[in-house]
Amino acid sequence: MITKIVVLARLIQSLLKRVPMVFITGNEALDSTLSYFDTKRWQDVRNKIRELLSTENWMFRYAFEDIVETMYKQLTIIKKDYGNGRPVDVKRIFDAFAFDAACNVLLLTEYETIKNPDSDLLKEIKRILDTSDNFAEKLILRSHLPKIAKWIKSQSINEDLKDFKKKVRNIIYEKHWHEKADFFLVKNVLDAMFEFDVKLTKNECLKTEIRLEDTTHQFLYYVVFGSQKVSTLATMACYLLARHKVEQNILRERIYEVINQNEGAFPYSSCDDIEYLDLVIKETLRLYPPVSMQQKLKMKFSKRYVPKRAHVTIPICGIHRDPEFYENPGAFDPNRFLRRPPPVEKFLPFGMGNRSCIGEAFAKMVTKIILVHIVGSFDIAVCHSTKIPPKFGLGTHSFLSVEEMILTLTTRSDSPIRMRRL
Ligand code: HEM
Repeated sequence: MITKIVVLARLIQSLLKRVPMVFITGNEALDSTLSYFDTKRWQDVRNKIRELLSTENWMFRYAFEDIVETMYKQLTIIKKDYGNGRPVDVKRIFDAFAFDAACNVLLLTEYETIKNPDSDLLKEIKRILDTSDNFAEKLILRSHLPKIAKWIKSQSINEDLKDFKKKVRNIIYEKHWHEKADFFLVKNVLDAMFEFDVKLTKNECLKTEIRLEDTTHQFLYYVVFGSQKVSTLATMACYLLARHKVEQNILRERIYEVINQNEGAFPYSSCDDIEYLDLVIKETLRLYPPVSMQQKLKMKFSKRYVPKRAHVTIPICGIHRDPEFYENPGAFDPNRFLRRPPPVEKFLPFGMGNRSCIGEAFAKMVTKIILVHIVGSFDIAVCHSTKIPPKFGLGTHSFLSVEEMILTLTTRSDSPIRMRRL
């Protein structure tokens, strides 16, 4: 089955030789992630950012506490508007939450979209990440007239996203320029991108502009793409738990134990204490990986097997559901990771090797905060409006694009979660 998918993917790729390696959106801001950098620059920037986004970094603890604060605001809104079991699109809510959390932690900026999940900015982000509309036409246009396709797409990006990009750029400029000590993430990314020298000559000013533009693009990628993937993961976990009450109750019991031990709070020190939560997250990543496949340009393969510069597609979703590697692959069974942990190359939600995801620790932390507070506060259930199986669009950059996820969240009166400052 997998061989068939790979062969089919290769065939399509060789037919469309001019399709770029990574699925472009046409928006230069979103098409400038690390993956597009040349090797030397990529290595320098990657090492630096990876270090910054690792759990070893003391910043993580503060980030965690800030995100929990944002979650308290979110819980208050959900309880008031939907806590009585009224159907709610959880994807829409988690999109806003993950976006706010990323802005808060990565840009030290409060962007309270959780108060308005229908904001035009979030709608626009969703639109550019979903290529479902006129997919075939776009694919043909992109493969044969890539420049025109890019131009058309960039023209259709609306003002809200352009404004957001300007805001991000200004934040980076202001905070870096005034050397805000607390803003070392941006400073380090800038430093990693280029040797930053404040004594600039005239010519250098131009370079500063480029540096600023490039750094802005990096942060746009983390905030826009990173948060969408986190939101997809949290959404699919809630969907699976809504359909599997036994597992939902086990998870809630474990959450209550940890919250009770911490007088009603979920502190940073307990982030890794709920083993069952890790298992649920892994099983969700297996069944619904937010990046469902990867495309690589192979430079080093032996000619005998895969020719140099061949486009190779790794069907992450297909591998995760292959009965050869996973017993009863369609079933939601978090304990499978305890009974028989899969080999690393058979579980690839964050990729593997030197190009793997640098945001993994951050993504898992935000997802844990969401699930602990949602499962710990509400009974999650499917309702007549829930699409079973879920409906997916054709996401940009091989993203799994969940169109909507209608569930019910009913407030539990026995929840030990106390909303207070940590
Ligand atoms: C559940 C959430 C996420 C999933 C499933 C995910 C998955 C992935 C995957 C599969 C790759 C490609 C790896 C490869 O090519 O081998 C990747 C790359 C990347 N991810 Fe994530 N990601 C997530 C969240 C994030 C977040 C929150 C950030 C930023 C804060 C982020 C930043 C990046 C970057 C910059 C790359 C490119 C790395 C490189 O080319 O060196 N990701 N991610």
